[in-house]
Amino acid sequence: MTSFVALFLAATLSLWLWPWTTSAAGCSSDPTRFTLSDLPYINYFYSDCHSAAQVIVRSPLPGSLLDIVTPRLLIAWPAGNSGLAAFFEPQNGVKGSLAVSLVNSSTTGNALEPIYEPTGDDPIVGVSGQISFNTSAKLTVPILGSVRTLRGYTEGGWLDSNIQNTLRFSDYGDGSVTVDRPWFDNVTTMTLSFSPSSKGSSASLSDRIVEFTAGTYVFNASFNYPQLTQLQPSQVLTDSAHDLIADSPDQTKSLSFLSYSDKLLAGAWRFLTYFGRDSMISMLLLKDILSAGEGSAFEAGVIALLERIDKSDGSVAHEETIGDYATYLNKQAGLISTAPLYDYKMVDTDFFLPVLLAEYFINNPVGKNRVKAVLDQVTAHAEGESGTSYRALATLNADKILRTTAPFAAKNGQVKENLIRLKDGESVGEWRDSSTGLGGGRIPYDVNTALAPAGLYAIATLADAGFFPDHPTWADDARKAAKIWEDKTLEFFEVSIPRDDARSLVDDYVSSNNFPFPSEKGSITGDVHFYGLALDGSNNQPIVKIMNSDDCFRHFLLNSTDEAQLTAFVSQTADNILAPFPVGLTTDAGLLVSNPAYTISTAGFGRADYHGTVVWGWQLSMMAKGLEHQLGRCDASSPPEFCQDSSVHIKVINAYNRLWDVIEENTAVLSNELWTWKYEDGRFDSIPLGELSSTESNISQLWSLTFLAVRRNEGYRNKAETLSGRKGLYVQD
Ligand SMILES: *[C@@H]1O[C@H](CO)[C@@H](O)[C@H](O)[C@H]1NC(C)=O
Ligand SMILES: *[C@@H]1O[C@H](CO)[C@@H](O)[C@H](O)[C@H]1NC(C)=O
Ligand SMILES: *[C@@H]1O[C@H](CO)[C@@H](O)[C@H](O)[C@H]1NC(C)=O
Ligand SMILES: *[C@@H]1O[C@H](CO)[C@@H](O)[C@H](O)[C@H]1NC(C)=O
Ligand SMILES: *[C@@H]1O[C@H](CO)[C@@H](O)[C@H](O)[C@H]1NC(C)=O
Ligand SMILES: *[C@@H]1O[C@H](CO)[C@@H](O)[C@H](O)[C@H]1NC(C)=O
Repeated sequence: MTSFVALFLAATLSLWLWPWTTSAAGCSSDPTRFTLSDLPYINYFYSDCHSAAQVIVRSPLPGSLLDIVTPRLLIAWPAGNSGLAAFFEPQNGVKGSLAVSLVNSSTTGNALEPIYEPTGDDPIVGVSGQISFNTSAKLTVPILGSVRTLRGYTEGGWLDSNIQNTLRFSDYGDGSVTVDRPWFDNVTTMTLSFSPSSKGSSASLSDRIVEFTAGTYVFNASFNYPQLTQLQPSQVLTDSAHDLIADSPDQTKSLSFLSYSDKLLAGAWRFLTYFGRDSMISMLLLKDILSAGEGSAFEAGVIALLERIDKSDGSVAHEETIGDYATYLNKQAGLISTAPLYDYKMVDTDFFLPVLLAEYFINNPVGKNRVKAVLDQVTAHAEGESGTSYRALATLNADKILRTTAPFAAKNGQVKENLIRLKDGESVGEWRDSSTGLGGGRIPYDVNTALAPAGLYAIATLADAGFFPDHPTWADDARKAAKIWEDKTLEFFEVSIPRDDARSLVDDYVSSNNFPFPSEKGSITGDVHFYGLALDGSNNQPIVKIMNSDDCFRHFLLNSTDEAQLTAFVSQTADNILAPFPVGLTTDAGLLVSNPAYTISTAGFGRADYHGTVVWGWQLSMMAKGLEHQLGRCDASSPPEFCQDSSVHIKVINAYNRLWDVIEENTAVLSNELWTWKYEDGRFDSIPLGELSSTESNISQLWSLTFLAVRRNEGYRNKAETLSGRKGLYVQD
């Protein structure tokens, strides 16, 4: 009796309280909810002080590729890079005849409510919502555990029976069904349950397949695992950038969803964890708006990098494997361990670190007072052991850079053999990390001509500021080496194509591929110059003659003082931005990252290829910032020579404006990782890569959010006219 009354009271109370309860149990601030639609995907985000989750519902639409766009409910958590997915099929009927959707709660109006049960060491957290099937459905493939396992299935059809066989199914006989899975750590359990919430809806089990009548169901998705602490938009942004919260709500909420107290994440949902390159490029581009100091986004990102450095040689980690997938991989290797695994295969990542450290600890007005507080910290370690200090790790990283760059910087060392190569046995090593991204090249352009010298200059700056007290010669050593890498590497990558050859190459490119767009050969008025993507390409090509946008790294990271070289360099970048694709790089959809018109083998560089004739948001951002930086040098007391050469100076301003014009034309897609195009009615229109490829794009991508900080410099809008003295003059040679 008493218990009945108590239950009744509790139920009544919670019903009464429900509509007025805005903050989740025990949280001082309101939860964040937002929805981003990228049909056929709808992304729902929920976060509060206990946990954060992304729920993605995919449902086929008329015209969808029905083999790829199957009905699916997927939930991803940054904590442990964890996730679960339910792949549905119609019970009767052809592919495409089942639609799934989330239904807003009739009491709260929300699509998602939190699950929070403080039991055991780690509370059970998750999300609850309602899913509706417009016809009878079956859940044929449930996957519970890690985002990495979900990606293995969605990207390669991979399912390991060692994982799938640990799923447990329960049918409660009342229309409710639960699927759960104990993780390999023997501590965590992940659960997905369905219970009917509309008249006539009922779920039941038939031989590990969940069957649903048409109707609506409450789904609960939860697990007990240590959660991360998300930084609110106001904590991610520096005070002076708080206006962005109201001005760009979706982007600032996305940035917050990717920012936690101990790391920044690369992308939602497929890369919901630490990635070294992504976080460093993002922080460098976002530096003016990112919060700094204790507990800030900038410091979280810096600490995450230092924490993951390889203690044996100072390498900076590219990616981390954590959570259930780490325990799984350890088990495959015969180890009983939940320890994370780090990937150190990249050859570019090391060089960004000193650049970032100098930016935070020297240039940032708040960061410069945080040197001791951060660098004296030590890495996580077992009881009874001592960790390694972040200062020691930063020193190891600098030492590795000095060692690997020394042969080329040595007397008479400026030969190809001393340039930085991909690691043996690896087909990738920098940002163009799909298997064909570098055209088979082994010696990448960006790493050698921009990242190595920039890393060395930053080491010199850090050494000057007393960061490496045990190495008194490093400031000098690094500065000398930096100058040699800065001045002597470009020449290896130079490509120069005589005018007539260039004209016939673009003609051949268009005709042999039956492209619908013109070759634009008329715009070739002189020899075509650019720097190749890499050396030692496939088919014995000494240079991979792919025109590309990686010039942006040098523009963004260096202040070259070799005047003749700098003038030629900025001039060819401007030419290649101003020239329309396929002569140059620009289309209405943006600046392409690759143009294979001048090479012998275009395989791997199509518009459906990851690093092909496609547009990447962050490359637009870095090129814009890089050109602005070089143009800004013209206002210095002793400006570079190109500033006095009015035809080059004006051309660079025109290229800056042309770039911003296409950026502004593509505002709607700028936060996406990348996009491609279709050519129609004489225009290149941007379309999602997903329309041409089964690769799902990331709805929120850390480095594509950099346009929050990178804005058009309006001062350049009419500057070319002013400089040339003749309005409307569009200088092209
Ligand atoms: C369910 O939705 C799909 C996809 O929109 C549609 O083809 C189908 O006719 C719908 N079924 C019913 C029973 O409404
Ligand atoms: C659910 O609520 C959101 C936010 O109020 C609204 O935009 C959306 O249209 C609603 N969805 C449905 C299916 O009613
Ligand atoms: C789903 O979660 C909610 C919120 O924690 C809870 O009230 C409800 O009982 C759960 N339903 C099922 C079927 O587990
Ligand atoms: C989990 O328990 C199983 C069975 O007792 C054991 O073989 C395994 O090593 C345990 N795994 C971990 C990570 O503790
Ligand atoms: C280039 O110049 C800028 C602005 O003066 C400075 O902040 C930056 O550290 C310089 N970079 C290098 C590599 O010298
Ligand atoms: C998603 O994000 C990851 C990590 O940044 C990146 O490597 C990948 O290219 C992105 N994929 C798409 C399709 O946007």
